Amino acid sequence: MKRILKWSGIVLSVLLGIVLILMVIMNIRTTSRLNKTYDIQPETVVIPTGETAIARGEYLARLICVECHGGDLRGDEFVDEAGLVTIYAANLTPGRGGIAERSDEDLVMAIRHGLDPAGKPLIIMPAEIFIHWSEEDLGAVIAYLRTIPAVDNEQPEPQISVIGRTLVGLGLFGKPFPAEYINHDAPFNEMPSIGPNPEYGAYLARAVGCTLCHGDNLKGGIQPENAPPGEIPTSPDITQAGDLADWTEDDFSQLLRTGTTPNGHEIDVDHMPWDMYGRLSDDDMVALWLYLQSLPLTPE
Ligand code: HEC
Ligand code: HEC
Repeated sequence: MKRILKWSGIVLSVLLGIVLILMVIMNIRTTSRLNKTYDIQPETVVIPTGETAIARGEYLARLICVECHGGDLRGDEFVDEAGLVTIYAANLTPGRGGIAERSDEDLVMAIRHGLDPAGKPLIIMPAEIFIHWSEEDLGAVIAYLRTIPAVDNEQPEPQISVIGRTLVGLGLFGKPFPAEYINHDAPFNEMPSIGPNPEYGAYLARAVGCTLCHGDNLKGGIQPENAPPGEIPTSPDITQAGDLADWTEDDFSQLLRTGTTPNGHEIDVDHMPWDMYGRLSDDDMVALWLYLQSLPLTPE
């Protein structure tokens, strides 16, 4: 009996030792990723003043930014798991705790590069989508943010605990720092003429994130590289060569509005954010559809 106790004691201490060493290594790694400074010169973007451009900025902000920054963009809780991670999306209004003091370059740094003004990575803020925006759209969103009513709301600084840093290090939260994997040198995408046409659909498929999950050619078969392992199913082929062969344009817009496919399958919003896509304008849905239809029928 004594011997068994002694051996299990040794085994336990060894295991505990391994866990501790792993935690130390993962903490050092995650902390250095968090503190890394990226040497990026933000582009100088023309900030428009016209009504049409500001309305365009409003459309984009109300489509995407509100998902995390809250309905009036005052900032919102993203995750608050006591003892693990606390992440709040920033206050984007000119109120206290907001972006009044941020220059346009600071905002380009945040939205397009996922970096704070000092060049350190923002957490979660999905620059991997916004890097695909045209200069016009980026300028329009910044112009719009400058016009919204001020709301005072100071958000807590992001916190990632020792255990949180270990889990991030092990990849269990996916890739939470977009600045790490986007191509910061990518040129601005050209702005096609906005309307129900396939060129604009091609632009949108990137600018609202379809390609992140369905792949650059929309042939599916992948999982988004930033998601935690196994959290999102492998995406289907959404070209006419794949699942959408028999769909009509109505079926497609119905899916974006309700998450329900023609055969009655309901898509989980955590697997594909159709609640967000339901806010796309009718013309934008048509543009996406025309683009999907224009893709080659040949298999990969
Ligand atoms: C998936 C969630 C998500 C979406 C969508 C999102 N953001 Fe963020 N954003 C965040 C989080 C979380 C932070 C805070 C990150 C941090 O503190 O490290 C943030 C930070 C920012 C900051 C930095 C603010 C500061 O104080 O420097 C700006 C600017 C910003 N977001 C703008 C936008 C805009 C504009 C959009 C829409 C085009 C948008 N965000 C969409 C999650 C999101
Ligand atoms: C976060 C990942 C993600 C994003 C972003 C995303 N999708 Fe999906 N999409 C999926 C997954 C996963 C499925 C399969 C879900 C299921 O079967 O329950 C799917 C299913 C679909 C389907 C149904 C296909 C079928 O075989 O029934 C269509 C159509 C579709 N997506 C179009 C789009 C379009 C258009 C966009 C951009 C506007 C988009 N998706 C953005 C992950 C995503």
